[in-house]
Amino acid sequence: MQKENKIEEISRRRGFFWTSSEIYGGLSGFYDYAHLGTALKNKWENIWRKFFLGLDDNFFEISPTEIMHEKVWQASGHVESFVDPVVKCKKCGNVERADKLLEEHLKESFEGISLNDLAEVIKKNNVKCPKCKGPLEEIGVLNLMFPVMIGNDVKAYLRGETAQGAYVNFNREFECLRKKLPLGLAIIGRAYRNEISPRNLLIRMREFTQAELQIFFDSEKIEQHSKFAEIKNYKLHVYPTKNRDDNKTNQVTCEEMTKHLPEFYVFHMAKVQQFFFDVLKIPKEIFRFKELSDEEKAFYNKYHWDIEIKLESLGGFVEVGGVHYRTDHDLSGHQKFSKQDLSVFADNKRLVPHVLELSFGVDRNIYALLELSYKEDKERTFFAFPRALSPFDCAVFPLVNKDGLDKKAEEIKALMKQRFSVFYDDSGSIGRRYRRMDEIGVPLSVTCDHQTLDDKTVTIRDRDTMKQVRVKITNLNEVLQRFLEGEELESLGVPVKKFIGNDE
Ligand code: ATP
Ligand code: GLY
Repeated sequence: MQKENKIEEISRRRGFFWTSSEIYGGLSGFYDYAHLGTALKNKWENIWRKFFLGLDDNFFEISPTEIMHEKVWQASGHVESFVDPVVKCKKCGNVERADKLLEEHLKESFEGISLNDLAEVIKKNNVKCPKCKGPLEEIGVLNLMFPVMIGNDVKAYLRGETAQGAYVNFNREFECLRKKLPLGLAIIGRAYRNEISPRNLLIRMREFTQAELQIFFDSEKIEQHSKFAEIKNYKLHVYPTKNRDDNKTNQVTCEEMTKHLPEFYVFHMAKVQQFFFDVLKIPKEIFRFKELSDEEKAFYNKYHWDIEIKLESLGGFVEVGGVHYRTDHDLSGHQKFSKQDLSVFADNKRLVPHVLELSFGVDRNIYALLELSYKEDKERTFFAFPRALSPFDCAVFPLVNKDGLDKKAEEIKALMKQRFSVFYDDSGSIGRRYRRMDEIGVPLSVTCDHQTLDDKTVTIRDRDTMKQVRVKITNLNEVLQRFLEGEELESLGVPVKKFIGNDE
């Protein structure tokens, strides 16, 4: 079975995610997160919050609405420019996104290529409809925004990106806060795009979650960042446009990168990479920043490097986010359309701030996490999620449901639930319960057995190594905390002579 299919199968069977409105046949490009997927996504979002809001005392999270005024999207340029090239089959009427169709067919990128050039490549390579092999019509474009009617006559849009919520709230927040730049406004929430060809599970959806941080700053200070010295020798994994032919990723110090990009931009690239390496524990060799050419860049960006992770199931690198220097494109656009003065007084002058955006697709990151954590060995499959990201922090079991062990296990669960997310399971053999926890990625299992009644100790088992040690019940919460922070199991307790349950 292909990895993508395996993840889909476990997700449905155990409860990570599945197709939305399934009992009515489902809707393409829409997925519901089930109980495990929701827990995993919440953990990811909280870790993102902690890391990115922690970068500066003047960074805050806000929660704007998802339905926004029509004018917001006219001002931002989305009504006019947020379009994808499409081709329709003359025979069966199937509509495909032209650049992605060619990408799949010819195994190279066609992002940002003009409609004429796309038409030429289709003709030259005699590309046919992937569904019925019929001939394709002329290329057109389709806007990705979802319009909605409010009442009978007011038109609005479901937001196509969370970012605009920060731009239309910027002035009020600036006034409420310290009236100081840089000011960061983060939004974690849904975005909606009428994607032509949704596919690859959580990778291309029509309703998805973004975690985006908009940093408003004085453009005259783009060549400086007060903490740059801390990262100047830190090496970024970069894939500039000039490397496209040999497909090579370079490791370049931040200081070296400032020959090509402003210091403020490079500083935040370093922070993004540290988030992936140090917090999400993504293997370094499958991560890169991809520079986009002028044709490929989003219409609002001056500098645009995508954040990419290599995924086996998708046959190569996939975009999971981006670092976008949007200049004053958005604030100036809103100033023009709303006829309101959006300039502020900061740094002893009036200015319209520029914006650096750190944009992340949460669902793509969750999919990457599932794929990269999925492991198979002789007797089991398991998700080796980074411990702090697992859907549950730990599991608690009584070895058997008698002799007072069940009562003791309930007490232990109650003790641990005050601080951690705990999964309690008392059904089936102990071996099967361990396997179930492995399969959903719970990093530690606590088992209460007959010895517990004598000496008030329990067995704890590490999901990844399947090793077991004994610890005192009174130390359990502290032990779990240390384990989640990365300590080895062996340093947390007394080794168990014979492991139970591993070979059932
Ligand atoms: P793509 O080129 O793959 O269509 P994009 O360049 O349009 O993506 P952006 O507009 O830069 O994507 O959106 C910011 C982030 O939101 C992306 O990096 C991605 O992680 C996420 N994202 C965008 N579109 C989708 C989608 N249809 N489904 C899930 N996540 C998405
Ligand atoms: N906010 C950036 C994007 O959605 O592309």
